[in-house]
Amino acid sequence: MRISVFGCGYLGAVHAACMTRLGHEVVGVDVVADQVASLNRGAAPFFEPGLPELLSEGLATGRLTFTTDAAEAAGCDVHFVCVGTPQKAGENAADLRYVHAAIDDLLPLLRAGDVVVGKSTVPVGTAEALAERLDEGASGAELIWNPEFLREGFAVKDTLHPDRFVYGARSNEQGERAKRRLDEVYAVALGEGTPKIEADLATAQLVKVAANSFLATKISFINAMAELCEATGADVTLLADAIGHDARIGRRFLNAGVGFGGGCLPKDIRAFMARAGELGVDQALTFLREVDSINMRRRVRMVDLAREECGGSIVGRRIALLGAAFKPDSDDVRDSPALSVAAQMQLQGAHVVVTDPQAIDNARKKWPDLAFADTVEEAVKAAELVVVLTEWPEYVGLDPRQLAERVDAKRVIDGRNCLDPTAWRDAGWTYRALGRP
Ligand SMILES: NC(=O)c1ccc[n+]([C@@H]2O[C@H](COP(=O)([O-])OP(=O)(O)OC[C@H]3O[C@@H](n4cnc5c(N)ncnc54)[C@H](O)[C@@H]3O)[C@@H](O)[C@H]2O)c1
Repeated sequence: MRISVFGCGYLGAVHAACMTRLGHEVVGVDVVADQVASLNRGAAPFFEPGLPELLSEGLATGRLTFTTDAAEAAGCDVHFVCVGTPQKAGENAADLRYVHAAIDDLLPLLRAGDVVVGKSTVPVGTAEALAERLDEGASGAELIWNPEFLREGFAVKDTLHPDRFVYGARSNEQGERAKRRLDEVYAVALGEGTPKIEADLATAQLVKVAANSFLATKISFINAMAELCEATGADVTLLADAIGHDARIGRRFLNAGVGFGGGCLPKDIRAFMARAGELGVDQALTFLREVDSINMRRRVRMVDLAREECGGSIVGRRIALLGAAFKPDSDDVRDSPALSVAAQMQLQGAHVVVTDPQAIDNARKKWPDLAFADTVEEAVKAAELVVVLTEWPEYVGLDPRQLAERVDAKRVIDGRNCLDPTAWRDAGWTYRALGRP
C-alpha cells in the first residue's frame, strides 16, 4: 500500500521505517528540514536500537522517502498522523496545534476512500473533532484512531510485533471499510496472531492515556512505599520482590527510584487530568495529581540524599551524575528526572559533571550550563559523590573496585536501585539508595 507518515520524530520515523519493512511504499513528512535530510541519508536523528539499519534497508529499496513537502503525500491510501502533542506552556492540557496542522496539510490531498490514522496521544474528543473536519472538508476520507504503545529503546520490535492493536472508528460503513484497510497495512502482525480490539473513537483515545496512567500509578505507588521504607528502615526492593510474587500485582514497573519522565507519561497524565476537568469528572482523576506529586518529590529527595551524604551541604562538592536520558537505550531527555536532579544540584552550588552513553548532545541543548563528560572515567575523576540516575547496562555492570581508584571519596547513591549494594560496600563504598536502609 502507499502510506504517508506525518511527523517523523521518535514515533513517526520508526513507524515509517517499519511500514517499509512490511512491504509498503512510504513517504515520511516532517516540518524540520534537517531531520528530513538526516533521515534521507539513513541517519536516525535520535538513538533507537535497530533504526539506522532499518532506515538504510528501507531507503535502499526505493520505497521509503522523507520530505518537508506535504504535497508528496498525495496519492497515498493511508495517512498516519504521528506528530507531537506536548504539554501546553503554563497549563496541564495538551497542545493540539500540530495535530490540526497535519490535518490542514492533508485536507487538500485526500480522496474518497482514503484513511487517516491517528497515532499521536490525544485527549479524548480530539479524534471526533478531526473526523468532523474531514467531513466538513468533503474529503470522503475516514478517520481511525489507532494509538501507539511502542516503548523507546524497543520501538522497532514493538512496531513490527506489537502486543496489541486498538482501532477506534465510527460505527458506519466508512468506518468499517477504513478498519479493513488498516488490516491490510498490519496484515503481517495480524497474521502472527496479534490481538486486535475494535472500539469506538472515544475508547481508543482513552485506552492510551489509561494505560500510561496505570503505569505512572504503579511507579508512584512503589515510590510512595519507598518513602515509608525510608521512614521505617525497611527495604523497598525486598518489599517489591515480595508483593511482586503475587500474580495479581506482578513485579514489573515496581522498581523504586528517581521516578518516571520522558516525552509521554508526565505530559499524558497531566493532559488526562485537564481533559477530565473539562468533562466535569475531574474527581475521577484526582489521584493522578498525587501520582505526579510523588514522582516529583523523588527528585527533591534525591538532592536531599546527596546533601546528607556530603555532610549537610553540596556547595562546592564535585558530584558525578551517571545518566541523563529518562531511561536506558534512549537519548530522550524530555522531562528527564536525571537532568532535573543535575540542574537542581548545580543550582544549589554543587560542581556537577553529567555523563550518558547516548544523551549528552540532547542534554547539552537543554541545559547548556551543565558540565558534561564523554565517559564514566572522566565524569568520576576526583568526584566526592557518584550518583546513578539512569540504569544503563554499562552503569549497572560498573566495577566498583576500578572506579574507586578515580574518585576522591567512595560514596555512591543508586538512584535506580540497579546496583549490587554488597559488591559496592565490599569495595569500600558508602552505598545509599532511595527506599533502602
Ligand atoms: N515517543 C514515544 O515513545 C511515544 C510512544 C507512543 C506514543 N507517542 C505519542 O506520539 C506522538 C509523537 O511523539 P514523539 O515522541 O514521536 O514526538 P517527537 O517530538 O519526537 O516527534 C514529533 C514530530 O512531529 C513533527 N511535526 C510537527 N508538526 C508537524 C506537521 N504539521 N507536519 C509534519 N510533521 C510535524 C515534529 O517536527 C517532530 O519531528 C505524541 O503524541 C506522543 O505522545 C510517543
